[in-house]
Amino acid sequence: MTVQFTIEGLNSGHDRKSFVCGVFVLDRYLKEQAGQDIKRRAALCYVACPEGSARIAGYYTLSAGDVALKDIPEDKARRLPPYPAIPVARIGRLAIDKDFQGRRLGAALLWDAASRALRSELGVFALAVDAKDEQAAAFYRHFGFIAFDTKPLQLFLPLATMAKLI
Ligand SMILES: CC(C)(COP(=O)(O)OP(=O)(O)OC[C@H]1O[C@@H](n2cnc3c(N)ncnc32)[C@H](O)[C@@H]1OP(=O)(O)O)[C@@H](O)C(=O)NCCC(=O)NCCS
Repeated sequence: MTVQFTIEGLNSGHDRKSFVCGVFVLDRYLKEQAGQDIKRRAALCYVACPEGSARIAGYYTLSAGDVALKDIPEDKARRLPPYPAIPVARIGRLAIDKDFQGRRLGAALLWDAASRALRSELGVFALAVDAKDEQAAAFYRHFGFIAFDTKPLQLFLPLATMAKLI
């Protein structure tokens, strides 16, 4: 049977307790910190739940940020205005519960983040991510994300590129 998922903002009706992705700090963030970040508007958190269920199958956080122009690879930087910092939408965390990994939910959350950034009424050059390690960085590179020159675990994908794909 195919399970459908709903992606929506985290709220008090969601079951955060049962979430286990295999990375303790990412589980703890959802249980202990995400609500506070939302309240303070430091980051918003979006969750995927099997339709009709409060169980969280995956989540990501999204916030505004910027990156230094000098960190952007030369071929991409050439087309940008010469401002010291370039605005981005940043995925701080992204995780899928072990029971739901390998079912393209991580990909679906990435596209959801990109479409929210594209729909926002702010000037945003790229979707940027902080990968926790090389394996996570490989996940993002799989979708065409490019590492910043001096920071291999921080990657970005220009939204203009994504707009063509969506
Ligand atoms: C990494 C993670 C988010 C991937 O989510 P997922 O739902 O299992 O992955 P998906 O099923 O959406 O995979 C989509 C594609 O990415 C590929 N992929 C998945 N993990 C990958 C990795 N580490 N490196 C390269 N490619 C990867 C899949 O093979 C799949 O390829 P396809 O498009 O050819 O079918 C998930 O495994 C997870 O939460 N891990 C623990 C936490 C973590 O590492 N978070 C990373 C952000 S810090």
